[in-house]
Amino acid sequence: MYAKWFTLQRVRVTNAVQVRYQDTRENVPKYYPDLRIKERLRRLCWTSSSTMVKAKKFVIAAKFDGLPKVSDFQLVEEDTPELKNGDLLCETLFISVDPYMRIFGRSLKEGDTMIGEVVSRVIESKSKKYPVGTTVLAGYGWRTHAVVHEDDKHPLPTAQLRAVPADFPKELSPGLLLGVTGMPGMTAYFGLIDVCQAKAGETVFVNAAAGAVGSLVGQIAKIKGCKVIGCAGTDDKVTWLRDLGFDYVFNYKTKSLSEELKKVAPEGIDCYFDNVCMQFAT
Ligand SMILES: NC(=O)c1ccc[n+]([C@@H]2O[C@H](COP(=O)([O-])OP(=O)(O)OC[C@H]3O[C@@H](n4cnc5c(N)ncnc54)[C@H](OP(=O)(O)O)[C@@H]3O)[C@@H](O)[C@H]2O)c1
Repeated sequence: MYAKWFTLQRVRVTNAVQVRYQDTRENVPKYYPDLRIKERLRRLCWTSSSTMVKAKKFVIAAKFDGLPKVSDFQLVEEDTPELKNGDLLCETLFISVDPYMRIFGRSLKEGDTMIGEVVSRVIESKSKKYPVGTTVLAGYGWRTHAVVHEDDKHPLPTAQLRAVPADFPKELSPGLLLGVTGMPGMTAYFGLIDVCQAKAGETVFVNAAAGAVGSLVGQIAKIKGCKVIGCAGTDDKVTWLRDLGFDYVFNYKTKSLSEELKKVAPEGIDCYFDNVCMQFAT
């Protein structure tokens, strides 16, 4: 269930950039476990009303170090407090699940609300800045509702309370602000364009290629006219990446990494976008 959390290693070429996850439900391959978590969170948590709201939230039931288990979390209810001047009551629309949570999760204690960024709608407001109906991004974690103050500051720059930009296209899901137009998209774009400086005609290799970041790296590289090689850990992912237009994809669990690379990139690789490190670093 928590397969998206497998990635602990920082991206070596992009570790200066913060980003986040994606979300439209259509065209999402079945193996995307993080989206299934989000659906489950929605089904488990959804309640909606205006004033007095019983919020549901996931709290840490047992501290985790390494891969978290379902039993490390507990779903609890709480009444949201009355709004004071400057407060807004947010109803969560999308919740993000990202690799960094394993690292930041280490500092959480039992009973703490699970961290994470969200896209929410303001359903009650005593804030002129964020009137009812505003769609906002916030960093209040895995909860259905939260009361936040308009001036609240979050330690993570990407999790600051802010309204969705006015020019965000209405026809797009605001969930994309946690994905391709959010942190993962920025990581992929700036990592590939600013750090790797990929150019047309160059060969790009990306691992964890079916992940939130990797899948975007490959697609941006194709748009830029690069030859794109990707690897992933299941055949389903390989098929999906081929559908996305990657030039060559292989399952690194059933094929030899070095042999495949020698075969498909005999001249070498110009840009290596490493999402994993570990066995790929040697
Ligand atoms: N998401 C962001 O916004 C963001 C921002 C900054 C940095 N990063 C970093 O970028 C990297 C990719 O993030 P992401 O959001 O794309 O991750 P993701 O969607 O969770 O994808 C992670 C994938 O990495 C692959 N993987 C390969 N070797 C692995 C190993 N030894 N252990 C665990 N997973 C392994 C797995 O796919 P296979 O089955 O194909 O092996 C796994 O599904 C991470 O290092 C993350 O910390 C992400």
